[in-house]
Formats: sequence, structure tokens, C-alpha cells
Amino acid sequence: NNNRRPIVAGNWKMNGNLALVKTMQQSISSIELDNVDIVVCPPAVYINAFDAPDLLTGAQDISLFEAGAHTGDISAGMFAELGCQFVIVGHSERRTDHSESNELVAKKASAALEQGLTPIVCVGEPLQVREAGQVFDYVAEQLDAVISTIGVERLSELVIAYEPVWAIGTGQSATPEQAQDVHRFIREHLAKADSEAGMRIRILYGGSVNARNASALFAQADVDGGLIGGASLKQDEFLAICQSAN
Ligand code: G3P
Repeated sequence: NNNRRPIVAGNWKMNGNLALVKTMQQSISSIELDNVDIVVCPPAVYINAFDAPDLLTGAQDISLFEAGAHTGDISAGMFAELGCQFVIVGHSERRTDHSESNELVAKKASAALEQGLTPIVCVGEPLQVREAGQVFDYVAEQLDAVISTIGVERLSELVIAYEPVWAIGTGQSATPEQAQDVHRFIREHLAKADSEAGMRIRILYGGSVNARNASALFAQADVDGGLIGGASLKQDEFLAICQSAN
């Protein structure tokens, strides 16, 4: 009942190989789903091995910088040149493994937009925060850094992924109600900055989504698809999840 087109994005994390690129490309090209954007985010070195013009790809991270002396980094412009449309920024594994702060994540989101990539900005609370009843405050702080860096003009171009840290890779997904609660909060929070952004921004749920729980999660009013980890490595399961969003 809204005009938001769902997205199902597979975040391979540091998994996969050229063989998986092949099988995934074949199986995604073989299904016709008109009402969902399917995005694959493999490790950076595999992006160019995808060779299907209609397939959407995304990076898992980008450098803050556009070019220069930053050994090991890859810029948004480089991914854009390869034909990527999306980039995940602020995944909880980046925040933990590489101490990425809210401010850094916001700057990366901005660097992505500058180069024509759509940032999928990840937010979400660790278990202690949920147990302490501080979820909304915690997520609001993560969002506010992005809102103030991007500014309201470009805010509606973002995609947000709500990934509660306790649900990532644990097999313990948020319930549809828990997800909807936070998604509604996120939408209302964005709408306070810019009502158009509140309406338009797609908010994906991530954290132990699988072929069995996807439909109920995607059926929630403010859940516009999913960011899929483990299940995005299994072709049948990933396609089933894509179908649930269609
Ligand atoms: O970015 C997706 C992710 O963190 C969720 O991982 O394995 O719980 O689906 P998983």
C-alpha cells in the first residue's frame, strides 16, 4: 500500500568464490520477479565477475576517500565504474572489527551518494541495549549522525537496514513485531527530519532471515525487504526469500 519497491540484498560477507558467482548469477537470472530489487553484495574482488547487465550489485564497504594514498582501500567511484548501484555502510561487523564510528559511517554514506551509489546504512542495537530498554535511543543516535552529515536534501536517497546485533548470524531472528516496532520508529524519526524521506526510504530488516521467516517479516508495514547474510549463499533459499518479497 505504499510505493516503496522492496529490496532483497544478499551480503556474502567474506564468503564465496568464483563458482558461487556463477551459480548465483544463473539462478537469479532464471527467475522473473517484477516487484523486487535483488542485489548481490559479494566480496569486492568478485563484483566484476558478475556478468549480467540486469543484475544489481553492491559493495560491502567503501573508503571515506575518493582516491590517493590509502593502501587497501577501494573508493565509491571505483565501484560505480564497475557498475555497482549500492554499497553497504556501517555493518555491525565493520563497526566492531574496524571500530567504525557513527560519524565515519555517515561520511561513508555521503561519499557513496557523491559517486552515485545508494548507501545501505546499517543500524541496530547489541543485546545489552535491548535488555536495558534503550533501543530507540541507540538507533536514533546512529541515524542522527547520518541525517546531519547527509542533510535533508539527499536523505530520501538512502536505504536503511535495521540489523539487531543479537540477531546476526545467530539463527535468532527478531520477531516480525520486534522488527516492525523499530522500523516504524526509524521511519518516524526520519520523517521528523524530512517527511518525504520518511515516506520514501526503504528500510530493510537483517538478522537470521531465512526462507521460513521471510514472508512474515516482509509483511510488516514498515519492512521493505531484507539484508540477508548466511541464507544469501544458498541459491534455493535466497531465491525463496526473494520470492517472499515480490
Ligand atoms: O548483513 C546481513 C547480516 O548481517 C545478517 O546475517 O547471517 O544473520 O542473515 P545473517
